[in-house]
Amino acid sequence: MQTQPKLVSESLVIEGGVPLRGSVYVSGAKNAALPCMAAALLTASDCYLENVPDIADVESMAQVLQSLGAEVERLSRSSLRINAANIVSLSPPSELVAQQRGSFLVMGALLARFGWAACSPPGGDVIGQRPIEVHLTGLEALGARISRQDEKFVADAKGRGLRGSLLFLDYPSVLGTENLLLAACLARGKSLIVNAACEPEIVCLADMLNKMGANIRGAGTHTIEVEGVAELSGATHRIIPDRIEAGTFAIAAAITGGEIDIFNANPAHLHSLIYKLRETGVQVEESDSMLRVASNGELHSLSVQAVPYPGLATDLQAPVAVLLTQARGVSYVHERVFDNRLLYISELRKMGAEVISTGTTAIITGPTQLVGAHVRALDVRAGAALILAALAARGTSEVSDIYHVDRGYEEIDVKLRRLGATVARIPQPQR
Ligand code: EPU
Repeated sequence: MQTQPKLVSESLVIEGGVPLRGSVYVSGAKNAALPCMAAALLTASDCYLENVPDIADVESMAQVLQSLGAEVERLSRSSLRINAANIVSLSPPSELVAQQRGSFLVMGALLARFGWAACSPPGGDVIGQRPIEVHLTGLEALGARISRQDEKFVADAKGRGLRGSLLFLDYPSVLGTENLLLAACLARGKSLIVNAACEPEIVCLADMLNKMGANIRGAGTHTIEVEGVAELSGATHRIIPDRIEAGTFAIAAAITGGEIDIFNANPAHLHSLIYKLRETGVQVEESDSMLRVASNGELHSLSVQAVPYPGLATDLQAPVAVLLTQARGVSYVHERVFDNRLLYISELRKMGAEVISTGTTAIITGPTQLVGAHVRALDVRAGAALILAALAARGTSEVSDIYHVDRGYEEIDVKLRRLGATVARIPQPQR
């Protein structure tokens, strides 16, 4: 893949107040595609990934893999071939690793296959403390020596290899669980990952690894058992639908008083959001791979908590908070996963929202008529939330620094336009 991540400064200019109607096709999940791309490093054979989203984070992960010597070929807009037969480096450049957080997954995969890996701490959104102890402690328990060389962490199991072990996670970290799964499936003997994260993206990764010949049981629960195997082969694997993108469009229907059919979604991954949407008065119909979301604009206030899966996803916390600016009464939104994920509130207040933040809780009084304003996307989900606010607002809004949103949403402006929204992408004006 040749394209650079789209880190150019662009804005979306949105004329609000139009009820969105029609259908939208959800792309593959960013947070499942990234670990599955890392899994391809575990074998010298071809891996084929389908339903891969065409987003900046996938591009930058491709660059990380290419920097190691892997071939990454886009066979179509949504499918990739990855071949890691000729790995030439076990240490990706820090500037590529810094572009996102999934890049740190190369650590577990390289260590498992080659017995050594070095990687600087990963980048990612500014949403609070984002330690990596769970990753490092787990790799150590598998027999790697962890040290620090300049800015990079080094994991060394040369000559000894990894051996299966009890891996207790202090916190059910999503990427931490994925890194340890990648490492444990080529370790000698059995590993038990206790207090594992159980997000659907972990099940997607485990399914791919099992297709490659790994022996993993219990993914999707808090206890995962991995019986190490000597080697893995290639596989073809389909990335699950992006539950956060599906949730964002569900909220777009609700906040504009419209009706949207959301295709290529998995309602089973969205129970917590669907429950909360119904509680606030939104109509949601579900079938196997589709959601129909409709609202007449009359919403009730709510209390919600963003917690690990299967609770309401922290990645939907900001979009839900924006929806609740349109609900009658006082709503409480508690962020329980990250300690600084309410920064978008100051932007939302510029649009007239009545919101106060007490650190990790937003207290929202509604309904408020939001008004168009210039606001900045501060991270991928906060940016999506402000786009939702702009769709509901009276007048014109400009959401700038849209590259944050492009990291995780495939052509959000194009998809919104197809639903009737008035959205234009413009070069960011110099201010
Ligand atoms: N944590 C620890 N110790 C660790 C690691 C994490 O205490 O060693 C804590 C963090 O401080 C945080 C909590 O665990 O409070 C959650 O962090 P986690 O490690 O689970 O997050 P992550 O794996 O770095 C992934 C997603 C995020 C998503 C979170 C939570 C990817 C690439 N990123 O991050 O997605 O918010 O899980 O579900 O999978 C996004 O897509 O916008 C995004 C930020």
